[in-house]
Amino acid sequence: MVESIAFSKTGDRKTVYSEIIPQIESLIGDEVDLIANLANITAVLKEAFGFLWIGFYLVKGDQLVLGPFQGPLACTRIDFDKGVCGYCYTTRETVIVPNVEEFPGHIVCSSAARSEIVLPIFRNEEVFGVLDVDSDRLNDFGEVDANGLKEVVGIIEGTLK
Ligand code: SME
Repeated sequence: MVESIAFSKTGDRKTVYSEIIPQIESLIGDEVDLIANLANITAVLKEAFGFLWIGFYLVKGDQLVLGPFQGPLACTRIDFDKGVCGYCYTTRETVIVPNVEEFPGHIVCSSAARSEIVLPIFRNEEVFGVLDVDSDRLNDFGEVDANGLKEVVGIIEGTLK
């Protein structure tokens, strides 16, 4: 069990993703407990990047339900046709929102949130849940985050098989 993570403090996000991804892989190892793994992943991402909010919503029935997260209090349930998370669920694509105020139907969980990225997590071709990250800075997410977080999601998907 990894007890702490190490990453450079340069602020170069691409480098930090490349440093933390192998550490997330070893942190998870052969652990199959979903909640434990998701909780530790949110902790690593929070520590590495300091994003405002990082967390998971998991498909339960006909809604997305809040899972492990780090950051301010968040809404518990999201309908599939609501918010950025619902849009990600419906389109099955990564969604980058440079300015949350310009996304129709964006659900405000924290008034400090300015931009957001949401990635789908698949199990057997179905959307199992989403990884949602909020920043308190406008236009804070780009391709580097989409690629880095996709690798993180891939690690989770590997535990769901
Ligand atoms: N903003 C999200 C809701 C979840 S919070 O950001 C934690 C949305 O519009 O779906």
